[in-house]
Amino acid sequence: TVVRTIAELRARLDEYRKQAPAGKVGLVPTMGYLHEGHASLIRRSASENGFTVLSVFVNPLQFGPTEDLDRYPRDEERDRAVAAEAGADLIFMPSVAEMYPKRPLTTISLSGVTERLCGASRPGHFDGVAIVVTKLFNLVQPNRAYFGLKDAQQVAVIQSLVEDLNLPVEIVPCPIVREASGLALSSRNVYLSPEEKEQALVLSRTLMQVPEWVQSGIAAAELSRRIRDAISRQPLADIEYVEVVDYPSLTAIEENKELAATSPVLVALAVRFGKTRLIDNILLPQA
Ligand code: PAJ
Repeated sequence: TVVRTIAELRARLDEYRKQAPAGKVGLVPTMGYLHEGHASLIRRSASENGFTVLSVFVNPLQFGPTEDLDRYPRDEERDRAVAAEAGADLIFMPSVAEMYPKRPLTTISLSGVTERLCGASRPGHFDGVAIVVTKLFNLVQPNRAYFGLKDAQQVAVIQSLVEDLNLPVEIVPCPIVREASGLALSSRNVYLSPEEKEQALVLSRTLMQVPEWVQSGIAAAELSRRIRDAISRQPLADIEYVEVVDYPSLTAIEENKELAATSPVLVALAVRFGKTRLIDNILLPQA
């Protein structure tokens, strides 16, 4: 079932909670154009909760003025099919006017975790994510909410938001889903030309070598240099950042200190191929 208004969303949730007072509600926030990565979150929620709400909303507040808001891919029909197949009970697809009848006067801005990586290259992005996710939490009041580690910084931001504000929701981080080629699934992959897509495989290929490099004893600066070198060999790759940071604080790691195979380290990158900006990462130690 698709609902487009907050009133209908609340009515459906009231109905479920009345009928199953001990039932748990899971929320999977997305911007649509669903792929297997999104489907994995929906399936996980459906397996752990009595009722799963999928939200599909391309949130204008998290896009910068020069970003791809207007051309962000959309396919409502397919999203409905993927959602149903994966086990979503309700799809919330609000309009921009429904979510933002006026420009919000409230800002939710996190320091620290937003300073580096995408926070540095996309000013205001995580403010937009934080406000829309907070609104969704208040609208749905889920017991659990599911986020992909594809966006590891987003997970760190949301976890800190929930902790700082005592939001009564459990955040469930979920593993990155990849194509057989290694390419991390993303709604934005449809923008890639065949040549760009071929060259983009360097990202996952390089990240997959990271555990071995760390095992052999390497410092943070040397690790990021090796990754940059490998990526730069692809002529269409334009590196925005390659960073090796502590997780989940996302603070700098001493450049020359050998990385320990045991302490949590996030190796994250953003690289443009043509007009398309791709992100990928690996979180160590691997499960
Ligand atoms: P979107 O990019 O649509 O992603 C929705 C969720 O799917 C996010 O938690 C994201 O990390 C997860 N996801 C995307 N690709 C994935 C992959 N290959 N493997 C595993 N999970 C993947 O992230 C957003 O939307 C927005 O910022 C949102 C949280 C909805 C707020 O507007």
